[in-house]
Amino acid sequence: MGPVVIVLALVTLVWLGQKAWERWDHFQIFRRLGIPGPPPSVLFGNLVELRKSGKSPLTVYDEWQEKFGHTYGYYAGTRPTLVIRNLETVKDVLVKHSSEHFSNRMTPIVKSKPLMDTLMGLRDRRWKELRSILAQTFSTSKMRHISKIMNRSISVTTEILTNNVNLDVDVLGLFQGLSCEVICECALAMRVDCQRNQNDTFLVAVREFLRTALNPFIFFAICFPWFAGAVQFIVDKFAVSALMTNIVCQNVETAIQLRRSQAHDPKILPSSEHKVMDVLQTLLDAAESPHIDKITDDEIVANSWIFLLGGFETTSAALTFTSYLLALNPEVQQTLFEELQAAFSEDEDINFDSVNNLQFLDQVVCESLRIYPPVVTFIVRETSSETRVESLSVPKGVSIHIPVWQIHHDPELWPDPFTFKPSRFSSSEKKTHHSMAWIPFGAGPRNCVGMRFGLLQIKLAIARIIRSFRLVPSPGTLTKLKLNVPTVTIVPEKKIYLKFEKR
Ligand code: HEM
Repeated sequence: MGPVVIVLALVTLVWLGQKAWERWDHFQIFRRLGIPGPPPSVLFGNLVELRKSGKSPLTVYDEWQEKFGHTYGYYAGTRPTLVIRNLETVKDVLVKHSSEHFSNRMTPIVKSKPLMDTLMGLRDRRWKELRSILAQTFSTSKMRHISKIMNRSISVTTEILTNNVNLDVDVLGLFQGLSCEVICECALAMRVDCQRNQNDTFLVAVREFLRTALNPFIFFAICFPWFAGAVQFIVDKFAVSALMTNIVCQNVETAIQLRRSQAHDPKILPSSEHKVMDVLQTLLDAAESPHIDKITDDEIVANSWIFLLGGFETTSAALTFTSYLLALNPEVQQTLFEELQAAFSEDEDINFDSVNNLQFLDQVVCESLRIYPPVVTFIVRETSSETRVESLSVPKGVSIHIPVWQIHHDPELWPDPFTFKPSRFSSSEKKTHHSMAWIPFGAGPRNCVGMRFGLLQIKLAIARIIRSFRLVPSPGTLTKLKLNVPTVTIVPEKKIYLKFEKR
């Protein structure tokens, strides 16, 4: 072996030693701050325990809380993550001091397109600008229009249920079809038929995207961020999940061209009443505005795409869990039916205004979102500088994670937390809750932008279904559900089958 080889080998060894030491040192952040938590491994942090131990992440978080208390730190790969549960601290982070220190969610490790141009990926000023534009999509007048689109799709749902009376219905599959149709039409200018056809190419592509979102490549990049660039290339080019993104992007790009050409067509009336009031149009109108930095076509496509991602799984999960809880609690279902009977005559339509006046329906939906908050690992903020959290001085770049599942099932906040009691949300009881004790949509300036949309769809669908059908459990319906968290949303481990009896 020549001297050059020996020198090269020595230099490589020193370099590797230096890298190993830096990595080890990185995993000492919480120990140095005196914050307890599960011991991380130098290769994967705590990600293997969280995601690959065979347990649901919800169980792992429960066990960590039991062992380390309400404030503890863990490492999502290399990302230091501080869990806080004190509700006043939660309020400080999400609401009171949000704009000073906690305005962004954590930086995505794999910076793939179109994610980085969406509300979920954007940061600081650009996020704020696009957020204020996209929030306009959910103004009362637009929601009134959107409710008509929703009602059209819900009519297909009730038609399917009429054809399947007294048979076992896979409720998650059913509501995924409904959510997909509604969002496609409202956000992507796309008509699909995925309620009647559960094998619709687009619905299958969306499911596949979500099933494979946390694939081994991404897992690897989270643990070894140096490879994120290579992983990004692989995911963008070859992942099966790219199919859904491609369909969406192509469709929205075509729709943009069409809308722009129609905008100059003298046969089309320019009045806003004649414009399609969807997300796409809101963005196209904003792109013409001289008051904001130009919105690029990439941003328009990306943010239409993120509405599908943000709204599909969440709303269908919420509808599934609400139906399940109503089937298992016939007395609550009866009270809801009576509220609907009293509010509407036989053939009267349920619309945007009337559905929002139903007090007990609101209680049912709030309680269902408490027991089963669809999104459980996404209420996270990144510290933008060294800052105080409780009595701790937390460095820049730490993710602060709000454990919504544990908050929603804390027996001190919610006695008998797994029992379905809509009375917890009666107007008198509601006043007694801490404002951070119920946060299925997060809180503060970065909360769920689609909250009104999601709630409207859930309420319209549940009201119309309960008016026409009695929901009953099938013989195999479990009374205690096991849940999975494939990405950030909970889904039942096994399909939930219910029967719909005609009233
Ligand atoms: C039951 C239905 C839904 C639930 C439970 C839900 C829940 C959430 C939660 C917990 C967050 C994070 C909030 C935070 O960090 O404080 C979020 C963010 C978001 N949601 Fe929803 N969501 C629902 C429906 C929707 C719908 C229908 C859309 C779109 C049409 C949507 C689009 C988004 C977007 C774009 C964000 C990121 C907002 C930002 O960073 O500015 N969501 N959602």
